[in-house]
Amino acid sequence: MKNELEPLALTPELVGKLQELRDKYSLTGQDLISNLEGLLYANYLKYWDYIHLDTLLSLQNPKTDFADEKIFITYHQITELYFKLILWELEQMATHQSINTKFYTERIKRIDRYLQNLIFSFDVMTEGMEYEQFRQFRMSLLPSSGFQSAQFRKIEICMTDFAHILAHTHHEKADFSEPIDNIFDFLYWKQGASDQKTGEETITSIHFQQKYRNDFVELAEKYRQKNLWQIFLELDRPKEAIELLKNIDALINIDWRLAHFKSAVKYLKNPKGEAVEATGGTNWQKYLPPRFQKIIFYPELWTSEEKENWGKKWVEKTINSFEN
Ligand code: HEM
Repeated sequence: MKNELEPLALTPELVGKLQELRDKYSLTGQDLISNLEGLLYANYLKYWDYIHLDTLLSLQNPKTDFADEKIFITYHQITELYFKLILWELEQMATHQSINTKFYTERIKRIDRYLQNLIFSFDVMTEGMEYEQFRQFRMSLLPSSGFQSAQFRKIEICMTDFAHILAHTHHEKADFSEPIDNIFDFLYWKQGASDQKTGEETITSIHFQQKYRNDFVELAEKYRQKNLWQIFLELDRPKEAIELLKNIDALINIDWRLAHFKSAVKYLKNPKGEAVEATGGTNWQKYLPPRFQKIIFYPELWTSEEKENWGKKWVEKTINSFEN
């Protein structure tokens, strides 16, 4: 039975809302009545449409029949979504017209939270797949590698001065006032991406740059004055941001990299315990550990001793257990 509703009363509140709507539409040359009629026919919003659930759930397409490959691909996608959120926070800070310390520190805390989630959940990789299955399905993924995560590289670019993501061997040679294009080749990851056997640049890295190099150069130019460190300077080095910056530096450049390295240690050795070649072809045992990479976004905020011991404790433990 249809509910009988009271006739509509034109209350001041209702009239006010109608006026606001009319003003909104008239700004773009539309009229109120047509738009109200449109509302009559419009469907209700549904959860699955709003979050594009069908599309989202159609994207986990393993290349093999090994059940655990689904975990591998899905967890990479989860990580990329978190990366997307991190980049979104960085963009909001970079494009803010009159950023203040409160906005800045709150966004950094959000980034901290996303990273904590990623680090905490990395066990999904390290513990959550069968070694035997992984060792087989990985062969179908050659020569792709998480190394080719463009969002990861973009996060690096937006979080610090370009100088701090260059290989240490090139710090003195590189002139940071030069166009990014001229010093791009000194990036730590480009330097690290040499084939374990031939010493040549890996095909994984070549493919990656064919697709993204221009984007990276453009982004780095754009963030030269607007990266997280530069905003810190612009805000006059607020004290309350110092620990927060150090935290996210360590979360990305020690904790995440170590959680990730742990999964390589687990899966990229044969049953005899010998290291095997990674899909991206790097000498991963030397390349991945933070202790060797020593990427530090905010070196000015750390003591010499802290920098000297970057990532040391954890890696010593892991590498020793791996080598013994
Ligand atoms: C069992 C799981 C994993 C293993 C064994 C693994 C292994 C590796 C290896 C060996 C490298 C070095 C490049 C190469 O030679 O391929 C690498 C790089 C990388 N992987 Fe993974 N990976 C795993 C999961 C992930 C996940 C879930 C992500 C998330 C997106 C990821 C993102 C990256 C990134 C960003 C790099 C570049 C790191 C750098 O340049 O310092 N990996 N991975």
